[in-house]
Amino acid sequence: MTGEPVLYSTDLVAGYIPGVNILNGCNITAYPGELIGIIGPNGAGKSTFLKAVFGQVNIRSGTIHLKGDDITGLKADKLVTKGVGMVPQNNNVFPTLSIEENLEMGLFQRPKVWAERFEFVTELFPELASRRKQRAGSLSGGERQMVAMARALMMDPSVLLLDEPSAGLSPVRQDETFLRVHQINRAGVSVIMVEQNARRCLQICDRAYVLDQGTDAYTGTGRELLKDPKVTELYLGTLAADVDADKKARGV
Ligand SMILES: Nc1ncnc2c1ncn2[C@@H]1O[C@H](COP(=O)(O)OP(=O)(O)O)[C@@H](O)[C@H]1O
Ligand SMILES: [Mg+2]
Repeated sequence: MTGEPVLYSTDLVAGYIPGVNILNGCNITAYPGELIGIIGPNGAGKSTFLKAVFGQVNIRSGTIHLKGDDITGLKADKLVTKGVGMVPQNNNVFPTLSIEENLEMGLFQRPKVWAERFEFVTELFPELASRRKQRAGSLSGGERQMVAMARALMMDPSVLLLDEPSAGLSPVRQDETFLRVHQINRAGVSVIMVEQNARRCLQICDRAYVLDQGTDAYTGTGRELLKDPKVTELYLGTLAADVDADKKARGV
């Protein structure tokens, strides 16, 4: 890719507890319009990376840039106005508020553009318009995920950060969520998505990073990583091959 990245981190080191680094020099870049995937084992620091970008973890060294501006260490409210949208993995809707009120919360810093943004998000999520008065707490996990994404999109972010949007959903709902993420990206929004469902993630993203122990261990296009034997062996699981080997060993 050429041109200026929409977001990039350089040698990012960050952590929660003094003396313990969770990110150990993490370099991740997203160019405008890209759908970037971040996969990797549990505890690798994937959520920590998103939280570090979103001003929720102490950054010890390294930098984060958004469209050329150094945004290292800025707080979440400032980042939202600068164009970073974040959908955390849990507790990402206000359950006692209606769908419409949740979307209004997303737009609290720019109430004047409500009509335009409401139209944009309900084109992506038509069911939110027809059910706008429904309480978010009464929705299914998949529907809440859509409300959370829609809320983040209300601010017209330059980059949308998604933490495991498919987690906890049924396989059918997972597929639907991946399709929605793809549609959001096709509508022109750059996306950085962390996913435990590595295969699905690699199937839809333009480029991806494998995060291991807080470092970007591998990167490439989704297709390249799906075909990379090292990535397959270490991170995608080889259940089918293991079952075959087991059958062979047992002579069945
Ligand atoms: N709030 C926290 N305080 C202290 N340690 C944390 C906190 N959140 C996460 N960690 C630790 O950071 C490491 C990476 O966690 P995380 O970024 O959530 O991993 P991933 O999202 O890749 O599964 C883990 O060892 C986890 O225990
Ligand atoms: Mg996580």
